[in-house]
Amino acid sequence: MQNGEGPPKDRPVLQTERLLLRKPNAGDIGSIIAIVGDWEVARRLARVPHPYGEKDARFFLDMIVPNEWVWAVTLRVSDEVVGIVGLTPDREPGVAELGYYVGRAHWRQGIATEAARAVVGHGFQGLRLRTITSGYFADNPVSGRVLAKLGFDEIGRSERPCLAIGSSVPSIDVCLAADRDASVLDRDSRR
Ligand SMILES: CC(C)(COP(=O)(O)OP(=O)(O)OC[C@H]1O[C@@H](n2cnc3c(N)ncnc32)[C@H](O)[C@@H]1OP(=O)(O)O)[C@@H](O)C(=O)NCCC(=O)NCCS
Repeated sequence: MQNGEGPPKDRPVLQTERLLLRKPNAGDIGSIIAIVGDWEVARRLARVPHPYGEKDARFFLDMIVPNEWVWAVTLRVSDEVVGIVGLTPDREPGVAELGYYVGRAHWRQGIATEAARAVVGHGFQGLRLRTITSGYFADNPVSGRVLAKLGFDEIGRSERPCLAIGSSVPSIDVCLAADRDASVLDRDSRR
């Protein structure tokens, strides 16, 4: 879980037009269980068991949050936790994998795109990552749409394990290089 900068220490609050992204904490356990305990969310993710209970949420808070760059996605208007987005450091320095989920009640409102865009921007500009990878199950084109909107390109096909389903699932692997990131290009063109 190391990358060029070492294990995650800082995790700034990230703000977008509608969202505030902050470090997940024990007060979020109920919301996390409600969101990711939903089979329709869990079956689209690689590392989430089903059913998902308090001990799983505590494992997430104790083992994943301190070692990865993970944010709780909250609505600025209400503080409600509506999802999680994060970057998992790769063994290769300067590379991390993007993952995210949003509670079903909040799908189709642009939340995943808005939250993931903020985290990708931080990954390149704040963490100075070189490459961000991601992947989605072939039967989940909506996630492919989120990634395409952020500029990710397909780099291959694979079988990825899905803990909730209990077997490997055909997947599409994607990646975005720092020099292709639109927010970096915008920033550079303003210089
Ligand atoms: C994938 C997921 C994060 C998308 O979240 P979201 O907040 O609904 O996504 P957005 O609203 O930002 O939508 C992104 C695009 O997908 C489209 N989209 C979203 N839901 C859709 C649906 N059910 N059918 C068709 N298109 C859909 C949106 O219209 C948008 O495209 P557009 O701008 O061209 O209209 C959410 O469905 C989810 O949490 N799914 C379960 C977990 C998961 O799949 N995580 C990703 C694993 S790789």
